[in-house]
Amino acid sequence: MKIIVLGAAAGGGFPQWNCNCNNCSGLRRGTIAAVPRTQSSIAVSSNSRDWVLVNASPDILAQIKATPELQPARAPRDSGIAAVMLTDSQIDHVAGLLMLREGKALPLYCTDSVWQDLSIEFPLTKVLSHYCGVSRHSLAVADFTGNRNARDGAATAIPGISDLRFTPIAVKSKAPPYSSRSAGPEPGDNIALIIEHLKTRKMLFYAPGLSEIHPQVEAAMREADCLLIDGTFWAADEMIRAGFSKKSARDMGHLPQSGAGGMIEVLEAVGTKRKVLVHINNTNPILDENSPERAILAQKGIEVAYDGMEIIL
Ligand code: MLT
Ligand code: MN
Ligand code: ZN
Repeated sequence: MKIIVLGAAAGGGFPQWNCNCNNCSGLRRGTIAAVPRTQSSIAVSSNSRDWVLVNASPDILAQIKATPELQPARAPRDSGIAAVMLTDSQIDHVAGLLMLREGKALPLYCTDSVWQDLSIEFPLTKVLSHYCGVSRHSLAVADFTGNRNARDGAATAIPGISDLRFTPIAVKSKAPPYSSRSAGPEPGDNIALIIEHLKTRKMLFYAPGLSEIHPQVEAAMREADCLLIDGTFWAADEMIRAGFSKKSARDMGHLPQSGAGGMIEVLEAVGTKRKVLVHINNTNPILDENSPERAILAQKGIEVAYDGMEIIL
């Protein structure tokens, strides 16, 4: 199976249009060693022909342009994107659906909570019904404490996508600010995905938003061959110290990398598999390839995703 990181940044991208933090201004002026990144999305395929887009970012058109596999040109109108799956209803993961309105109704896989957000508070699906429409498929999730059986019961195959199995796992993160559940997320507002190649049994664990590691999440992480996981913030108070927000990383649904119980400790505890941080906020010092924080990651064998990164499992 092949995974292409279409966009490795969090909401806002890198650089963010209105941001003059050290990273955004340093990148614009060429004074830091860093590359731009678009907003959060990956594409997955077992045959390099039929791709599942996991999350549809506002930067989807630029991402398709940069990824020839997604534009195979077999017919006057054509796309390599065979289906879309969503891990949540955050703007950075769903707004791109509007950009795909000229095509056919895409199969859209999401939980009932996400569907509710996209039908009521941010009624993208209603708007799209006047263009291409969407063909909705429900993703079931076990609750936050779901056991292995409950997890396997939620496994989903996508018609036409041979060889791949998608298993959603409810994770603690955050429903978007516009959601009726923004104050208290429920199982289904945010999922991690285990994406398994049935022939080789290789497993990717993908979770761009994750603020707490429940035991069943940790178990899934241990089983995976590669983790593509929440790399939003380095520090718990990154946005507060920068003066950009009153919310901590955890308040925003993201486990910071540093500190006690942070992502670095979690990744060290789950062993030696390939570990890649994605959904990186533009304030995160790890974007600067010469930063001491990036050196810490390198020393611990933790990679930092970039746009166009390919992972073969
Ligand atoms: C988040 O995951 O917290 C987002 O990147 C926020 C957003 O998309 O605005
Ligand atoms: Mn996000
Ligand atoms: Zn910035």
